[in-house]
Amino acid sequence: MPSSPNRSTVSTATSPFARPRWFDRAIRRMQLAEPVAQTGTATFGFRQMPAHEKPRAVMRHFDRVAPRYDLMNNLLSFGIQLVWKRVAVGEMGLRPGDQALDLCGGTADLALLAARKTGGSGRAVVCDLNRSMMAGGVAKVKRAGLSDRIAFVQGDAEQIPFLDGTFDAAMVGFGIRNLTHLEDGFREMHRVLKPGGIMMCLEFSKPVNPLFRWLYDFYSFTVMPFLGEVLVGNREGYRCLPETIRLFSLPEELSGALEDVGFTAVRYRRLTNGIAAVHTAIRP
Ligand SMILES: C[S@@+](CC[C@H](N)C(=O)[O-])C[C@H]1O[C@@H](n2cnc3c(N)ncnc32)[C@H](O)[C@@H]1O
Repeated sequence: MPSSPNRSTVSTATSPFARPRWFDRAIRRMQLAEPVAQTGTATFGFRQMPAHEKPRAVMRHFDRVAPRYDLMNNLLSFGIQLVWKRVAVGEMGLRPGDQALDLCGGTADLALLAARKTGGSGRAVVCDLNRSMMAGGVAKVKRAGLSDRIAFVQGDAEQIPFLDGTFDAAMVGFGIRNLTHLEDGFREMHRVLKPGGIMMCLEFSKPVNPLFRWLYDFYSFTVMPFLGEVLVGNREGYRCLPETIRLFSLPEELSGALEDVGFTAVRYRRLTNGIAAVHTAIRP
């Protein structure tokens, strides 16, 4: 992997991240809260950094991508990401009147889908650290005429600013892998859910079919950064995205993390050959 001035990282010659690829379980495990706490080191993509610096790096990344976030998401995924979000929200079985949390909610796609299911008496709350990301969501919610049903709160997913047992449903879409201590996010979702409440996590994952995976690797490590550079002048941001995905827990590992924080009835479903996976679980 070529180095760049923004990459004040380990020497790539000795780093396990020397080339773009999928990693084994031991390296994926290094992204979990316990090893991060033990080593004091976190990664954002293939960049390693002191754990306390990661939130700032994540904030800078999303400040940069926010103005074109939805456009780039739809272009780069050929619109499939919206289908995934619809399927994922469908998996939650939301009912009219439910209170739903959209953690790391950014531009509010999941909150919008949820609010349509929970109706006039329901509420959705987008909670995100980044105001620029939420600004895009505020405008969309206004255009959809749902401002009375969707609220925005700036807050950290590792310390959700709500009381225990506030929500009937808590969802996180493509956000959990950006946390410094991933399980803290799940633990917090568990805490703010009412007993019997449902958690949903939609995340990128590893395609199952090797040929498809090869094509996906070519697309994500070569085409995507190129499009990032050409379309929005941001190669680095769109190189980081596939890197974070390669380091992220596989569905069965994520299921284990959810069970460890106390969720039950953990289930997952792969989408588009496993490019994404949706997990659901219940807070007992
Ligand atoms: C890839 S975006 C996903 C946005 C939206 N959920 C979606 O599916 O399109 C990840 C979001 O997570 C937010 N985020 C990252 N770390 C966070 C944290 N510690 N607490 C709250 N939000 C965080 C970012 O600001 C960003 O808006």
